[in-house]
Amino acid sequence: MLRFSQRCESLKSSSIMEISAKAAELKLQGFDVISLAAGEPDFNTPIEIQNAATKAMADGITKYTPAPGFLTLRQAVADHVTRENDFPVEPSEVVITCGAKHALYTAIQCLVNPGEAVLVPTPAWVSYGAIVELAGGYIIPLPLLEEDGFRPNVERWKGMALPSNVRGIILNSPNNPTGAVYSRDDLMKLVSWALSRDLWIISDEIYEKITYDQLRHVSVASLGPEVKGRTVTVSGFSKSHCMTGWRLGWTITEKDLAQKISAFTSQSISHVTSFAQMGALTAARMGHGVVDKMVSEFDARRQYVASRLDKWSGDVAYTMPHGAFYFFVNCSKLLSRKGVNDVQMCRDLLANQHIGLVPGASFGSSGYVRLSYATSMENLHRALDRFEDYLRT
Ligand SMILES: Cc1ncc(COP(=O)(O)O)c(C=O)c1O
Repeated sequence: MLRFSQRCESLKSSSIMEISAKAAELKLQGFDVISLAAGEPDFNTPIEIQNAATKAMADGITKYTPAPGFLTLRQAVADHVTRENDFPVEPSEVVITCGAKHALYTAIQCLVNPGEAVLVPTPAWVSYGAIVELAGGYIIPLPLLEEDGFRPNVERWKGMALPSNVRGIILNSPNNPTGAVYSRDDLMKLVSWALSRDLWIISDEIYEKITYDQLRHVSVASLGPEVKGRTVTVSGFSKSHCMTGWRLGWTITEKDLAQKISAFTSQSISHVTSFAQMGALTAARMGHGVVDKMVSEFDARRQYVASRLDKWSGDVAYTMPHGAFYFFVNCSKLLSRKGVNDVQMCRDLLANQHIGLVPGASFGSSGYVRLSYATSMENLHRALDRFEDYLRT
């Protein structure tokens, strides 16, 4: 029998990537599968960014780069965040990482010892647990409730008995999978509780540019210098500039931790691809036009999905998402009517209706499914017709 390291024994691939792969496999077999499982915009990377990377290659920017990224890019990201996120950033606080996922991975590797805990408001993105476990730590879920609009309610957590070895908390607003956007007030309460427990705050802000209903994203680090000093801000252009495949994101944190994250990067991936960094440099300097256009298209789709879900209120319920591109649909009535759980239902829907959805169990909340509207209006139309057929059977 093959023996793996203990660290890898219970390691599984991301369930979302698995569902997307299964949907792609069925498509290859000739089935007309519509995936509402995607965690990425369906638009291509803006042409200016593509051109910048192509030009960089032609200009010979194809060699090793500094581990934390080109200084010009770190300066451009620092300027971009200072301008748009209401807190001052210096290039020495920025490390360019291989996507927001790798940003989270390196930050956790640098902060969490084996046996230590990290708090994760749940439902939560599928990879936080694995990332913490790969550092030898474990997560403690903190409940986010539908009746609170899936926004953090610290009062609910204050009575929980937490161990003394908690190192930090991972926050994610706008949120995947719920689409909740935390207000300044939510964050102030949460952060003052976290700081009183001497926790690090790892703030995953990858969906920061995708908000609706005039809501503006609030960066945790903008709440003041003391908060900034205990926060790792994680973000990137993957979602805002349709650059998921480029594998480029960043951490922003105080200089000593930034140096450790940079050292970790240099000893693992070396650095992010040279010409991808040049594409990102263009993204950091671009205006808002492309992002605004994409967000207004997402908004139209969001309204459309809501209008369809409203018709099935006997079976499903939802809280209107204010950010990202997901609905987290409460299917408990439907599931009990059908006598299945969310995982079985998603399996059935893929096999029979050929629509891909992600079960809530993947995010730590059974009874729900995550529906991504990062696909064309026509696909949404057809997929929701098929879902309606499933409801009728
Ligand atoms: C909440 C959240 N954080 C991080 C990531 C990873 O982003 P990236 O593609 O930049 O690694 C995702 C991707 O789906 C996500 O949903």
